[in-house]
Amino acid sequence: MTATFENVAALSRTIITEPNRLNFHIQPPVGLLNDPNGLVQHNGVYHVFYQWNPLSCEHKNKTWNHLTTTNFVEFTQHSVALMPTDWYDKNGCYSGSGFVKDDQIYLFYTGNVKDAEHKRQSYQCLAKVLPNQHVEKLGVVIDDSEIPEGYTRHFRDPKIWFDQSTQKWVAIFGAQTQAEKGTALLFVSDDAIKWEFHGELQTEYTRNFGFMWECPDLLQVDGQDVFIFSPQGIEQQGIEYANIYQSGYVTGNFDLATCSFTHDTFVELDRGFEFYAPQTFNDEQGRTIMIAWMGLPEEEAQPTCEHGWVHALTIPRQLQVRDGVLYQTPLEEFAQLRGTKQAMKIGADEAQKLAVAASYELQFACPTMPTTGVMTIDFDGDHTLTCDFEQGIVTLTRRGAYLPGIRQCRLDATHVFTMTIFKDTSSVEIFLQGGSQVFTARTFHEQPVTTLTIATPHGLQATYWELGKMTITQAEMGNKE
Ligand code: FRU
Repeated sequence: MTATFENVAALSRTIITEPNRLNFHIQPPVGLLNDPNGLVQHNGVYHVFYQWNPLSCEHKNKTWNHLTTTNFVEFTQHSVALMPTDWYDKNGCYSGSGFVKDDQIYLFYTGNVKDAEHKRQSYQCLAKVLPNQHVEKLGVVIDDSEIPEGYTRHFRDPKIWFDQSTQKWVAIFGAQTQAEKGTALLFVSDDAIKWEFHGELQTEYTRNFGFMWECPDLLQVDGQDVFIFSPQGIEQQGIEYANIYQSGYVTGNFDLATCSFTHDTFVELDRGFEFYAPQTFNDEQGRTIMIAWMGLPEEEAQPTCEHGWVHALTIPRQLQVRDGVLYQTPLEEFAQLRGTKQAMKIGADEAQKLAVAASYELQFACPTMPTTGVMTIDFDGDHTLTCDFEQGIVTLTRRGAYLPGIRQCRLDATHVFTMTIFKDTSSVEIFLQGGSQVFTARTFHEQPVTTLTIATPHGLQATYWELGKMTITQAEMGNKE
C-alpha cells in the first residue's frame, strides 16, 4: 500500500475534465470522496478535510484530503493530511473532527483496522496540524481494548468540543450495541489526550432506531441543543426515510452530567437523493456551518466513475434554529460568485423556458402561501420539481439511468413560500421555506443543460444570477517552515 500511496501527490494534481465536473463544490481531484472531516476555523483560515480514496472509486484506502480557505470560494489544496500507513489506521483513516487547543489545530479521527481474520478493530487517534499545514500523527488515544463492554467495534467518528461548564473536552462517537442497535457514546477528558468513558447518550431513539449510528454531532445553535446523527437501517415510511441511509436531527435539551437528551421528533436534514454524514462547526464570527457528503454509498452506477472520480461535498450552509426548527441557508460568501442580477417575471399559466448557465442561483418568493395549483420546475435534463400547493407536497422526480425515483416533503402552510435553488453542472440544492426543508441531488448530464422550464398557476417574481467557479490552488508541496 505504501508504494501506491507514493503517487498521491501526483494524483492530487491530476485534472479531470468532463461535463459533470462541478464549478462551486468541493470534489475529489480523482478517486472517491465521502464525509467532510475536521472542519475548523483558526486565525481566520477555514480548514476543510474530507474522506478521500485517491486510488479508485471504491470505499477503500481512506485518507484525509486537506483544503483551506478564507472565503469559501478560493481554496488552497495542501498535501494529504492523513494516510492509512500506521498499524492503528492501516485499513483507513476514518472520519473525525478538528479542534483548536493551545493555539494549535488537532484532528481526532478513527483508525480502522482489520486483523488477519478480517475482524474489525477501532482506534481513536490524534494528529496535529503544523503551521506549514503538514499533519503530524500523534498516535492512539483510545485503544480498541477501551471500547466499553456491550458494544461492537463499530465505534467511530469522534466529534469533539470543549464544555465550558465542566472545563472538559467531550467527544461523542457513533456506536453499535452487541445486539446490533445504533447508539452514541460520550467520552470526557481534561487534556484531549487521556479519555474516559462517560456514558451512552440517552434519547428516545437510543437502541431502537437502526443498527448503527454514524457521524454523531452534538451542538448548540441559537441557545438550543441539537443532536445530528446518521442512523443506518431505517425502513421507508411513506415519504420519510426514502434513501438507503438517513441523516437528521432532534432539538431539545442535553444534560452532560446524565448524558440525557430530551427532544422533539427526528427530522431528516435533507429531502433529496444524495445527502449523508454532515458535520458542523462554529466559525470565528459565531456562525454554525454545516457541510455534508453530497452522496451515499451507492456510487457504482454514477456516470463519473468511468472518468475516475465520484461524489462531492454539499455547499456549506449556515444553521439557525427557531422554535425548535433547524434552518439551512447557503453561506453568504457564495454571493461573491454571482454575475449580473436578473429580475424575471414568470407569467401565470404559460410554461416559460429560461436560458440558464451551467451554474446559477435562482430565488423565488410568493408574498403569501398559495393554496391551489401546481408549479413545475423542469431542469430540462432528468429532474423535475413539482410544488402541489393544494396537497401541500413538493416532489423531486429523477428519471434516467442513475437511481431514478421520487423524493418528497410536506409544505408548512403556516410559513410563506420561498425557494432558493443552487444549481451546479451536476447537482441541485433546493432550499424551501427559509431552508427548513432542503432537497440535495446529483443531476448527471452528458451535455451541459442550458434551459429551465417553469410553469406556475400564480405569477411569480424570480431573481437569477449566473454563478462563477470557485478556485483551488495547489500549495507548494514538501516545504518545511
Ligand atoms: C460515513 C462513514 C463513517 C466512516 C467513514 C469511512 O459515511 O461510514 O462512519 O468513518 O464513512 O469512510
